[in-house]
Amino acid sequence: MRVTAATLALVLARGANGGCPFANGGAQKDGVRQMFEHEDRLLTSSFNDGDSVPWDELKADIVNLFVSSDSQDFWPADFGHYGPFFVRLAWHCSGSYRTSDGRGGCDGARIRFTPELDWPDNGNLDKALQLLQPLKLKYGDALSWGDLIVLTGTTAIQSMGGPVLGFCAGRIDDADGYGSLTLGPSPEQEALAPCPVNGDCKFPLGQTTVGLIYVNPEGHLSDPVPEGSVPDIRDSFGRMGMNDDETVGLIGAHAFGKFHGACSLGNGLCGSGPLKGNGSNTYTSGFEGKWTETPTLWTNDYFANLLEYDWEKYVGPGGKFQWRPVLKPGAPGPAADIQMLTTDVALTRDPDYLQIVQEYAADLDAFDTTFKNAWYKLTSRDMGPVTRCIGPDVPPAQPFQDPLPPAPEQLADFGAARTAVASLLASDPAHAAAVSALAYNCASTFRATDYLGGCNGARIRFEPDKYWPANAGVDQVLQLLTPIKAQFDTANNGVLSWADLIVLAGTVANEVAGGLGTTFCGGRVDADHGSNDFLAPRTYYSSALIAARDNMQVMGLTPIEAVALSGRLRSPEQVALMGGPGSYSDGTALDNTYFSMLLNEMWEPVDGVATTALGQYYRAASQEAFVTTSDLALIWDPLFKPIVEAYATNREFFQEQFAAAWTKFMNADRFDGPRGNVCT
Ligand code: HEM
Repeated sequence: MRVTAATLALVLARGANGGCPFANGGAQKDGVRQMFEHEDRLLTSSFNDGDSVPWDELKADIVNLFVSSDSQDFWPADFGHYGPFFVRLAWHCSGSYRTSDGRGGCDGARIRFTPELDWPDNGNLDKALQLLQPLKLKYGDALSWGDLIVLTGTTAIQSMGGPVLGFCAGRIDDADGYGSLTLGPSPEQEALAPCPVNGDCKFPLGQTTVGLIYVNPEGHLSDPVPEGSVPDIRDSFGRMGMNDDETVGLIGAHAFGKFHGACSLGNGLCGSGPLKGNGSNTYTSGFEGKWTETPTLWTNDYFANLLEYDWEKYVGPGGKFQWRPVLKPGAPGPAADIQMLTTDVALTRDPDYLQIVQEYAADLDAFDTTFKNAWYKLTSRDMGPVTRCIGPDVPPAQPFQDPLPPAPEQLADFGAARTAVASLLASDPAHAAAVSALAYNCASTFRATDYLGGCNGARIRFEPDKYWPANAGVDQVLQLLTPIKAQFDTANNGVLSWADLIVLAGTVANEVAGGLGTTFCGGRVDADHGSNDFLAPRTYYSSALIAARDNMQVMGLTPIEAVALSGRLRSPEQVALMGGPGSYSDGTALDNTYFSMLLNEMWEPVDGVATTALGQYYRAASQEAFVTTSDLALIWDPLFKPIVEAYATNREFFQEQFAAAWTKFMNADRFDGPRGNVCT
C-alpha cells in the first residue's frame, strides 16, 4: 500500500497594534483583532491519492459495523442498525457548507473539533465518530476522516435500500477546527457575519441559528408554528444552494432513524456514569420518536405519513414541542406509532413544498432520483470540480460541479503566442495594465474554500461576470486579444483557449512592465457560460480590514502573497472606470511604487465618509491619486503593513514575491494539472 502524506504550512503572522483612521476605528480594530489574532499555526493535513485505499474492503467493514452484534454501550444501535446515526453524521458534516464564501462542508472533517463538535445540533455525534475510530486506525493516513464519514453515510443509505449516485473521494483533513471558526459561535464569526438574533441569522451565514445545521426543528425561535418554519427552511437551504425539490427530497431522509429525547431531565442530567444518555435516558435533540414505522428501511413513508394524518402539537417527554398523528375524520385506526417535528409538518403548510411532498408520497422513483442527486451534491459540492474527485465510484460530472469541456488533443504553440502578445503590448504601453488586470480578475474568482472559480473556463467573458463592477471594460480588453486568439487557434496548429490566452497575456504583460519572468503552463479550456452568481466579489463586509483578511483567506493566499498581488499593474483607465479622477502611475511599470505611494501620503475620504469596503479616498495633497479602502487596508492592518513596508523599501523582494504569487494564483484552479510539455 502506498501512503502519501503532505504537510501544508500556513503561517499567519500575529498582529500588532496599528494606526486605524476609521471614525469608529477602535471598535472595528477590536473586532478584527479578535477575528484574526491567534498563535502562529502550522496546519498539517494528511490525504491519500485514492489508489491506496482498498475501497471494497473498507465498504465491507463499514457494512459490518452497521449491524455488528457488539453494539457499543456508549451508544447502542437503535433498531439494531447504526445506519441512520451515520447518515446524520455525514449530513451534519456536509450541511455546514454555505455558498456565500464556500466555507463549511465535510472536506476537512472539522466536525471532529470545536466549534462544530460542540454545536447543540451535533449532540452525540462524538459517539458516531468513536464508532468509526477503529476503521480510521485500520486504514490510517491513506483514508481521510472526511472520506470515511461521507462514505459511511452513503454506504448506510445504500445498505438500508436507498438510492446512491456514487462517491467522490479525496477529502483532505484539517488539523484542527480553525477553518470553522467563522461558522460560529466565535468572535471570528461575530466580526465577519454577526447574527444579532440567534434563530434569525441571515446571509452570509448558512444557518438560521448558529449552532444548528440549518434551522430550529421546534420552529422559528422555538415557536411551534409550522408555517413559521417555512421561510427558515427555504432561506437556509437556499443559502446552501438547494432548491425546493432538493430540500424536500433531502429531508425525506427522515425515512430513517429517530429523534432522541425520552428523558425529561434534559441533556447532561439524563443517566449517569459511562452509560449517561444510554437507553431510556438517551437525549440528543430533546424530541422523542420516529418518523416511520420502518426506520432502517428506505421508503417514501415519511411523505405518505405527513399526508395521511392530521398533526397535533404537544410537549414530548423531553420537554419540547413535537407533533403526534391524529386520524383524519373517518380514517380507520389506530394511528401509527410515529411523530413529527415542527419543521417536518411545515412541508405540508406551503403550497410548493406540499406539491413536492404529494409527488414523492405517490412516486418512489421520483423521490429516489431527487434524493440520490441531492445527497451527492450535499456531500460533494465543497470538493469543487469533478477533477478533484478520486476513487472507483465517481459518477460523471454533475451540473453543480459546473464541468469544463475536455482539453483538446493539441495545444497551440505557446512560445509563438507569447511573442505575438509581446508585440501587441509593444504597440501601446497602456495595454500591459489592461491585459494584466484581465488575467488577475479572471483568476480572482477562485476560492480555496470550495475550489470553485478561477480563470480556467474564461467565464469572465460572459454574464454575470463581465457586468461585475470590478470587470468594467472587459470587452475592450478581450477585443485587443481577439486577433491573437484567431491567429493561433487553428485546427492544424492546435487550440489556444481564451483562458490560456488571458493568463498568458497577463503573464507577458507583467514581464513587459518590468516584472520577473514567470512560467506559463497551458491546457486551460473555455466554458460556454459565466460563473455562478455566488462567485461575485463579496460585498457584505462591515469593514475594509475584515474584507482584506477574509478575501485573502478565501482565495487561499498568504499575507505575503496577498499584499504582493495588490501591487499589480494599475492603469489610469481602470481608475477612471471606478469613478476616480486620477491614478498614481501610468500603469506601465510593475515596481514597488504602489507601496511607497500608500505609505507616503495622507489620505482623505471622498465626501468625508469612507467606512465601507468600497470607500474611496483621495490623496490629500492633490486629488490625482485615488485609492479605495481595499488599498488602504494594507497600511491600516497591522498584519499587512510590515509587508507593505518591506516591499516599499526593496523592489527586488517585491518582484520575487509577486512573481511567485502570480504563478500560484494563475494556477490555483488547475486540478487537471498542466498537460504534457506545455509550459513556457
Ligand atoms: C435526525 C432535524 C434535515 C437526516 C434528526 C433529529 C432532528 C433533526 C432534531 C433528531 C436528532 C436526535 O435527537 O438524535 C432536522 C431538521 C432538518 C433535517 C430540522 C431540516 C429542516 C435532515 C436532512 C437529512 C437528515 C437533510 C439527511 C439528508 C436525519 C437522520 C436522522 C435525523 C438520518 C436520524 C438519526 C438517528 O436515528 O440517530 N433530524 N433534520 N435530516 N436526521 Fe434530520
